[in-house]
Amino acid sequence: MLVSAKDMLQKAKAGHYAVGQFNINNLEWTKAILLTAQENNSPVILGVSEGAGKYMGGYKTIVGMVNGLLEELNITVPVALHLDHGSYEGCLKCIDAGFSSIMFDGSHYPIEENVAKTKELVAIVKEKGMSLEAEVGSIGGEEDGVVGAGECADPAECKMVADLGIDFLAAGIGNIHGKYPENWQGLSFETLDAIQQLTGELPLVLHGGTGIPADMIKKAIDLGVSKINVNTECQLAFAAATRAYVEAGKDLQGKGFDPRKLLAPGFEAIKATVKEKMELFGSVNRA
Ligand code: 13P
Repeated sequence: MLVSAKDMLQKAKAGHYAVGQFNINNLEWTKAILLTAQENNSPVILGVSEGAGKYMGGYKTIVGMVNGLLEELNITVPVALHLDHGSYEGCLKCIDAGFSSIMFDGSHYPIEENVAKTKELVAIVKEKGMSLEAEVGSIGGEEDGVVGAGECADPAECKMVADLGIDFLAAGIGNIHGKYPENWQGLSFETLDAIQQLTGELPLVLHGGTGIPADMIKKAIDLGVSKINVNTECQLAFAAATRAYVEAGKDLQGKGFDPRKLLAPGFEAIKATVKEKMELFGSVNRA
């Protein structure tokens, strides 16, 4: 059964580790992440962007697929199904479809509007026993065609949103989605520290987990990050493994064109990436 991400992240914050949010794109992705979580006895959050939701045939399709896999694969570790960077309307759709967690990304609105909309969603989500992530300060990079510059959130604004009764907060600290450019300045630990001083026990979320060096990840966890989002890294691993298979001509040998064979190396590559992240984040054996 899907669970809210509230308890798993409060436990992570108290235990000084982080739970990974891995974004899903299809059946192979979802199965690979769930099996890896179970094998490593780790809690896990499946992230779905609005674009990926559309791609997979809608939120209800995803809920059906994930619930089916949990039951048929005997997944017993805590799993949350979470909308990533949701619009207000997208959040309502996911609440209705049976997600267990949502992110409302109001970071592009003026702070007053972000606060007002987040507050409305807090009330709805509480009633349903779901968890809510809010965002302050836009996360740079490209996601679903939207490109933003990496910002550092205003700690006072973070405190305003944290006090609305949300369950965890994503705050820009110079992180961006996708690969980091050569001249990236690194995470702003000063900003993160200032935010955590004001928001206390509230679990903080680090987006753009792809390509952040291990030492920065560890320091971010020390400073209160309890959820780390990874998307691009699984895509790169899947693409590289699939490319190697095709370039070796394996799709032309025997029944190598069978999707169950063609997609197998990519599936294994996602599993390896997720395992590596769970080890780095410290969530192994924390289910
Ligand atoms: P990456 O694609 O950079 O790993 O970012 C993922 C993310 O933050 C999803 O919200």
